[in-house]
Amino acid sequence: MSTPPSNPDSLPPTLDAALRPVRWDDYVGQEQVKASVRISIDAAKKRGGMPEHILFYGPPGVGKTTLAHLVALTLGSQLKNTSGVAIERAGDLAAILTNLEPNTVLFIDEIHRLSHKIEELLYPALESGHLDIILGKGPSARTIELALPPFTLVGATTRIAELSEPLRSRFGGGTYQLDFYSDDDLRDIVRRSAALLDLSVPEEVVERVAARSRATPRIANALLKRVRDFSQVHERPLSAAVCDEACELFGIDVLGLTKDDRRYLTTLAEGFRGGPAGVRAIAAALHEDPDTIESVYEPYLLRLGFIERSSRGRILTQKGRSYLR
Ligand SMILES: Nc1ncnc2c1ncn2[C@@H]1O[C@H](COP(=O)(O)OP(=O)(O)OP(=O)(O)O)[C@@H](O)[C@H]1O
Ligand SMILES: [Mg+2]
Repeated sequence: MSTPPSNPDSLPPTLDAALRPVRWDDYVGQEQVKASVRISIDAAKKRGGMPEHILFYGPPGVGKTTLAHLVALTLGSQLKNTSGVAIERAGDLAAILTNLEPNTVLFIDEIHRLSHKIEELLYPALESGHLDIILGKGPSARTIELALPPFTLVGATTRIAELSEPLRSRFGGGTYQLDFYSDDDLRDIVRRSAALLDLSVPEEVVERVAARSRATPRIANALLKRVRDFSQVHERPLSAAVCDEACELFGIDVLGLTKDDRRYLTTLAEGFRGGPAGVRAIAAALHEDPDTIESVYEPYLLRLGFIERSSRGRILTQKGRSYLR
């Protein structure tokens, strides 16, 4: 038997697909974001055009990609999916843009990963719908303007601070922060997913799964599935006790923290005497990528008030210390 991944965030995206909401009513919470985005879409539809470019940011698994899908579905548009990492050369971007069907929603995930050069190429495309192509080299080089089909860019990022100001300012349709979810919203999500998975889940299990999901829908869904697997393998109906045993086996505690989180906190407490410690130093000590530390581990620890960010690095708080005791 293969071991389950220690962090539900690392589950492949295909596992998300079946539970991904395809109607606005099924997209739980984030009411203000939903309402604003829908106004942009409805207004554009009334004008018979496409909405202005939109940016979503927030921690992993809070519904950015899902929103991009909903935008395209509501507009009746095609969704072209790509990511900041995939667009390496100018030619990659040119190929994507010139091949768009008119009125496509172009989704660029991890948009903070676009290089400076690519960003510059993107500006005229976003502002006036054309691409500047340089032909030739040296003094004889000339630029031609290539008109592009109308499209709406939907960008998503977990690292808004890394997005350049010029790029940020070009999302005329709005920049929306997707935040962690309330317990109520998470319980709704768990109940909906349970119904889609044809599972009968007692309310006390709904509560436990929601409380241990790090305020993140993707983790709630992943944990629900893992708890279901546990109950099926042990041939015991889902109950609070079964849920607790499963979580203990998975190393997930009542706050939803995993052994990776505890390793982070212990390293900060012992290896760095509680900090301040730079994120790169912490990452090196944990043999992790600094990006993963900042976008996967830290947001929830910050939310719990277990760590603080200062100009000199991360600090373990009193609350964080008490947790480790
Ligand atoms: N508001 C929501 N209501 C119901 N389910 C949701 C909601 N947001 C997310 N989900 C569930 O969580 C899963 C993960 O969401 P999604 O892929 O949109 O997150 P993301 O923000 O794009 O994450 P990443 O930063 O890792 O790309 C979805 O497939 C869906 O099942
Ligand atoms: Mg996504």
